[in-house]
Amino acid sequence: MRILGIETSCDETGAAIVEDGTKVLANIVASSQELHIKTGGIIPEVAAREQIKCIIPVIEEALQNLHLEGVDKRHLPGGRMDSWKVDRFIDAIAVTVGPGLIGSLLVGVETAKTLASIWGKPIIPVNHLISHIYANWLGPKPYTLNPKPSFPAIVLIASGGHTDLLLMKGHGKLRRLGGTRDDAAGECFDKCARILGLSFPGGPAIAAEATKLKVKSEKLKVKLPRPMIESDNFDFSFSGLKTALLREVNQLKGVQQFNNLTVQQLSSSVQEAITDVLVEKTIRAAQKYQVKSILISGGVAANDVLREKFRVQSSEFRVNFFAPAKNLCTDNAAMVAAAAFFNYSPKPWPKIQAHPELFFTNLRG
Ligand code: KG4
Ligand code: ZN
Repeated sequence: MRILGIETSCDETGAAIVEDGTKVLANIVASSQELHIKTGGIIPEVAAREQIKCIIPVIEEALQNLHLEGVDKRHLPGGRMDSWKVDRFIDAIAVTVGPGLIGSLLVGVETAKTLASIWGKPIIPVNHLISHIYANWLGPKPYTLNPKPSFPAIVLIASGGHTDLLLMKGHGKLRRLGGTRDDAAGECFDKCARILGLSFPGGPAIAAEATKLKVKSEKLKVKLPRPMIESDNFDFSFSGLKTALLREVNQLKGVQQFNNLTVQQLSSSVQEAITDVLVEKTIRAAQKYQVKSILISGGVAANDVLREKFRVQSSEFRVNFFAPAKNLCTDNAAMVAAAAFFNYSPKPWPKIQAHPELFFTNLRG
């Protein structure tokens, strides 16, 4: 089955075609991140306006870039949308319905409903958080020990808006064990980057600064707190970390010692603190529930230090570790199509609506 996925929950516009939930035939993402760098964060109206501009070109590009073996190129869609013979290529449409920014979500949802109605295809609503998990079923995975994640599994979702730990007993069988009580891990990276004068998004900027420290001894001159690392639950709290960082920065500025080297050192300290907490709690959950796999997902899962810590710890505890390819950690539509395949539950298109506040209560959206 080939599913056209559409993702517009935030500042990325994504369209992808995935076969049987695993094989990516096309995956196009346009990002309005450049615009948000200027403002140091996302302005919802700006993101929504960019979604409107990008959605049709992105879907067109995905359909024009289909890699189909054994299909005569002449039958592939090309040119204008009204000349597409989609019946041959697409069996269903999947769309992110929430959580996310209402203006952005509406663009994807209304486009998907229109296409489903015109093309006479089933439409599957997808929860954005759950779709992140399904990036683990797609594409090449350098840290994979097995070809497919096996259940039960512990899932960590760490993105700009969410940090959640889940027990996954099968497709559609998810139980939330805990999550952040305040800032998400990605949000913490973004806010700390801002304090350090680095660009948006903060995660990659902090990771890049930290790698500039060549000598190990230069690292970790400043030890930042590991919030809630010892707590007897699976919750997180990251807001105190940025306050601790701000205190350090103000102190260094007071004695004129805030320079390139200290920015690199503090970046490394932030990265170590956030990744330590995420790894420690996830591993503890994996031990408690005796799982076969650990799956990480969301934008923060692209972090190299986090991936390496997980790789080392999970092999120590003999759990299979899965991380999506880095380009599939951040928002994309391939994961939406994969989630729809494994949780196939179409709804009549008039019933599909954007739900900005959607959480884990309705796991299939
Ligand atoms: O999943 P995502 O693309 O969007 C949301 O659904 O929120 O995640 C974006 C978040 C941002 O906070 C960004 O700073 C973080 O993921 N991020 C990273 C890295 N790449 C993106 N954090 C740490 N290291 C990275 N390499
Ligand atoms: Zn996301």
